[in-house]
Amino acid sequence: MEAGFFDSKISLKHPHKNDMITRMTYLSHSPEDTQRFAKEQALELTRIGNGEPIVVALEGELGAGKTTFTQAFAEALGVHEHLKSPTFVLLKHYELRITNYEFLYHIDCYRLKDSQDLKVLGIEEILGNSKNIVLIEWAERVADILPKNHWVIHIDHISEQERNITVTKSDD
Ligand SMILES: Nc1ncnc2c1ncn2[C@@H]1O[C@H](COP(=O)(O)OP(=O)(O)OP(=O)(O)O)[C@@H](O)[C@H]1O
Ligand SMILES: [Mg+2]
Repeated sequence: MEAGFFDSKISLKHPHKNDMITRMTYLSHSPEDTQRFAKEQALELTRIGNGEPIVVALEGELGAGKTTFTQAFAEALGVHEHLKSPTFVLLKHYELRITNYEFLYHIDCYRLKDSQDLKVLGIEEILGNSKNIVLIEWAERVADILPKNHWVIHIDHISEQERNITVTKSDD
């Protein structure tokens, strides 16, 4: 199948979560393709932002492309520093040079079993600040701290180079 969007004009009920709406599905054929898609999503999510913090939960198995997506997403918002996965430090933040948002937080919950460690780091304040954009890898592990309105980027392995990327928004 060709790289690109399908379902993009149709809002479908998420098959597993009744309160989630699938906005689009994108078939990526390469890391560069995923990076391009992530940049578009960064511009789109910040464009339609409604004065609330932007929280993006990144789901997908090891090596799916969560960090690849986050790096390109951040780059599109003017983060020039190469963003490395914060697996050991848990959380990193980068200053943004765009209107409406000041900081991009990159959180990696791979080593967590629940949200306790993030609470100690002040996650509730971070998620409550409307100037923040927060991307969370392995967000399934800290589902209890995600705000009601958040985006889910789910990346599925199709083959070595192919990924199916689903963008879902919690219903508001
Ligand atoms: N279509 C694709 N999109 C994204 N990455 C791809 C694609 N095809 C191959 N890859 C490769 O898959 C790997 C994705 O690694 P990445 O660190 O982004 O995954 P991750 O989901 O963050 O993994 P982890 O769970 O370890 O944090 C990279 O080596 C990348 O080059
Ligand atoms: Mg990663």
